[in-house]
Amino acid sequence: IFTLKEFDRFGGKQHEWIYADFHERLNSKIAKLFFEKPIGQHRAHGSMLSVSNIEKGRGRAMELWFGVIFEAVPITMKIIVSIVALLFCGIPGLIMSLVLVVYLVTSLYLNLRVIQDCTKIDSDLRKINRHFSERMDGIEKVKISGKAHEELSFISRNYKDVSTRDRDFWVWYISFSRWRSRFAIFSLSFVLAYGAWQVWNGVWTLGILFPVFTWASMAYDNFWQISSVERKIQFNMPSVRSMIKVLTIEPWFRTENRIEQVNWSLPPIISFKEISHNYNQKEKGSKPVLRNVSFEINSGEKIALVGMSGAGKSTLSYLALQFMDPSSGSVLVNGVDLRTISTESLLVGTGYVSQHAMIFDGTLRDNLVYGLDENSRKIVTDEHLWQVMKLLKIDFGLRLTNGLNTIVGKNGMKLSGGQKQRVAIGSALIKNPKFVVIDEATSHLDSTTEQLVQTGINEFFRQGVTALIIAHRLSTIKKCDKIVVLKPISEVKGNESQIEAIGTFQELVKSSKTFRNFAISQGMLRRKKKVKIES
Ligand SMILES: Nc1ncnc2c1ncn2[C@@H]1O[C@H](COP(=O)(O)OP(=O)(O)OP(=O)(O)O)[C@@H](O)[C@H]1O
Ligand SMILES: [Mg+2]
Repeated sequence: IFTLKEFDRFGGKQHEWIYADFHERLNSKIAKLFFEKPIGQHRAHGSMLSVSNIEKGRGRAMELWFGVIFEAVPITMKIIVSIVALLFCGIPGLIMSLVLVVYLVTSLYLNLRVIQDCTKIDSDLRKINRHFSERMDGIEKVKISGKAHEELSFISRNYKDVSTRDRDFWVWYISFSRWRSRFAIFSLSFVLAYGAWQVWNGVWTLGILFPVFTWASMAYDNFWQISSVERKIQFNMPSVRSMIKVLTIEPWFRTENRIEQVNWSLPPIISFKEISHNYNQKEKGSKPVLRNVSFEINSGEKIALVGMSGAGKSTLSYLALQFMDPSSGSVLVNGVDLRTISTESLLVGTGYVSQHAMIFDGTLRDNLVYGLDENSRKIVTDEHLWQVMKLLKIDFGLRLTNGLNTIVGKNGMKLSGGQKQRVAIGSALIKNPKFVVIDEATSHLDSTTEQLVQTGINEFFRQGVTALIIAHRLSTIKKCDKIVVLKPISEVKGNESQIEAIGTFQELVKSSKTFRNFAISQGMLRRKKKVKIES
């Protein structure tokens, strides 16, 4: 009785406290497991580390936990207490114990069936959920391609299919558990009849019949209740199991195992040594995207990387930023293999502007100072932020209705593509990095703004920075110390290097066919006219 009372009190008064505690622990754990994976692992095809996968599991985990703590545990306790009490009366206790055994065995069987059938249904449901959320995010593409109707019927058809399979399974589940309830009610009737018969024969007094009746009914009531809780638990299980499976995949590497520190007193020397990379190494028949790439960026040097689309320029920059480790070869920072360097230490002095500007909802200031550590964030002045903004032409005049406090919207939706790119450059440079990777950072700008932003970047570079700049427009990389031309991997034979040539603009015009073609197509070089010599 004490236990039951405690449970009731526990379930009432402490409910909110336990809810908040579990909510906090669950979310912190999910965030920890999610953030510990390297960027490359998140981006890998089929990584399943999708938001929809985790979101669903997260909600279901809360329901599961509450089902267990506030319902299953007290109910089971009540069943055990009543059966133990009944065991003192002999046969009734044995019969109700048999019911308990039947419940346990069938529960295990049902659990197996849920794993078998529902996991597949749940994974198909996640697929369609993912499809639906992707189309919601990409509403513009759906509408402009005239696919709204097609998408609607595809989504409805798939939801109908999954929901039907789901419904059929749970209908079967309910019918199966119904015969178990019938068995329980039959056992209860038998216990009562047995008690009455014992009293009739004078073996029991009427006083014994009352507790037997109470305990047997209590056991029966709780068996009945546990069926619905069990169903709730089984229903939530597949999504929770799938979330756990995804989150507990080992990270490709653990940053805490990498302990070498980068010395940031000078701009670093970055060396690419015989790099080859295959994104899907473990897949049969997969092909590498980079082969045998070697070059070095000296301290304070600015190297540009050019090449056809898909040649592997961004991939090379990901390898230099520890998104993932190369399949073979190594990236060295000041002669130390990046595989041994602490990610935190690498990022302290590194600025990265990605090909797709990533802007968070919030103010312009929030976005600019996002990469700063807590202390720097506190001491950075508005004057300094305005200085950087002016340098990179981030001051969009009237568009900045509230200065640095102007809200930029989700994904920076209140900004144009070019404005977003400039904010992204600003946020990378504001922390005065000594190593900078810029991937197509000015591709959305008109040529006049591009030149102005480029002048700003070059001015920043004067402070002494090692830089890797990826660009299609040759006008933006004219001032680089050297240019590396990467050929598409399809043109690389055997173990030949993928680098077609390295040199200055003038040198490459002579030595690299790809570069010459780039320069001609961008109007920076004139095609030599073939002179036909008449014989
Ligand atoms: N996450 C990924 N998983 C598998 N393959 C990938 C992944 N990211 C890129 N690739 C492949 O790697 C190759 C090189 O891509 P990368 O983005 O490095 O090219 P790029 O030279 O930067 O091209 P662009 O100039 O168009 O940006 C491409 O064939 C691409 O399909
Ligand atoms: Mg790229």
